[in-house]
Amino acid sequence: MHPALDRLQPYPFERLARLHQGVTPKAGLTQISLSIGEPKHAAPPQVVQALIDSLDALGTYPATAGLPEFRRAAAGWLERRYGLGGALDPASMLLPVNGTREALFAFAQAVIDPAAGSLVAMPNPFYQIYEGAALLAGATPYFLDTTASNDFVPDLAAVPDEVWRRCALLYLCSPGNPTGAVLDEAYMARAIELADRFDFVIAADECYGDIYLDEAAPPAGFLGACHRLGRNRFERVVVFHSLSKRSSVPGLRSGFVAGDPAILARFGLYRTYHGCALPVHVQRASIVAWNDDSHTLENRALYRAKFDAVLPILAPVLPMTRPPAGFYLWPDVGFDDETFARELYATQNVVVLPGSYLAREGRAGNPGRHRVRISLVAGLDECITAAHRIRDYLETRSS
Ligand SMILES: Cc1ncc(COP(=O)(O)O)c(C=O)c1O
Repeated sequence: MHPALDRLQPYPFERLARLHQGVTPKAGLTQISLSIGEPKHAAPPQVVQALIDSLDALGTYPATAGLPEFRRAAAGWLERRYGLGGALDPASMLLPVNGTREALFAFAQAVIDPAAGSLVAMPNPFYQIYEGAALLAGATPYFLDTTASNDFVPDLAAVPDEVWRRCALLYLCSPGNPTGAVLDEAYMARAIELADRFDFVIAADECYGDIYLDEAAPPAGFLGACHRLGRNRFERVVVFHSLSKRSSVPGLRSGFVAGDPAILARFGLYRTYHGCALPVHVQRASIVAWNDDSHTLENRALYRAKFDAVLPILAPVLPMTRPPAGFYLWPDVGFDDETFARELYATQNVVVLPGSYLAREGRAGNPGRHRVRISLVAGLDECITAAHRIRDYLETRSS
């Protein structure tokens, strides 16, 4: 078997299940799960209808490159969302993927030379796929801690040149999971400059790109940054997008990658063998989703209402600022995060994820230590009830 399989870490939810083992939540309280980042808002009806109407496509093998209409719809959204001046050619600069998760994993396998002893740099805390992808590609993860002291933004300037020299791939995630932090275009320009100088590729995970809280301040994206730098062939940059969060359809498994056509040509070759073409009926439903922005506006309004309702309830016990984007709270609870998650489960039947499960030991310990990730994915009423229960738990604990 592949020796790197032994280096894969248990997934955070496996660890959470173990943490809960033997604990029986207090009777009479229905469970509220705020641990998984799985959107629960209703799927847009027109997307569901398009899926149903496309089931005749079940008799068709999909092509790796996808339908031209799919690529045009996704490119059209990128253009509207990030302003690319028409630079993105949907035929050569975009490929469908089955959600960003598999693509983020597969990308490392295609980009990294397993014999080169490369490093893969990534934020810490992170989406765990980055780490597994690096390990199975024969590389070594290099963690860029994101903490309150750097505003949850990886400090690229603190990375030694010898690390950059060995770096083959840099994963960045904006808006960030779990921190909600966003990178601006000036930051992206610095990352691109480093990629040029040290010859590495940037994988920009932007799957939360349409989940932000201020309608007047949509988060920047790497392709927009490239365009404004005059890099209209998006050299060294590939972005990862998904309908899972944007359109609340995580079960559709629909996303795309876009950017540097030279890299995507090689990635496309890899994907042909990988055999993960996006089914035609999924593409047809996705075309409807990427062509419509009104449902994303409604989606954001629902998340905003939850932040507005929950933060004041928690403020007296768990003060925190509203993140600019994403649907997570990432508070410092002031004591052991596993204890918090276990006690909250036992006493209030509310499930949250210990922050240390989403991170590794970094330069100053585990940056998720003493933090928990609270996903505001449940309905508004449930989120409000959960916030009252968290407050009740903390007030009782400190009394
Ligand atoms: C940061 C990040 N990237 C990627 C994904 C994968 O999403 P999907 O494969 O549904 O597009 C997730 C899902 O939670 C995520 O949080």
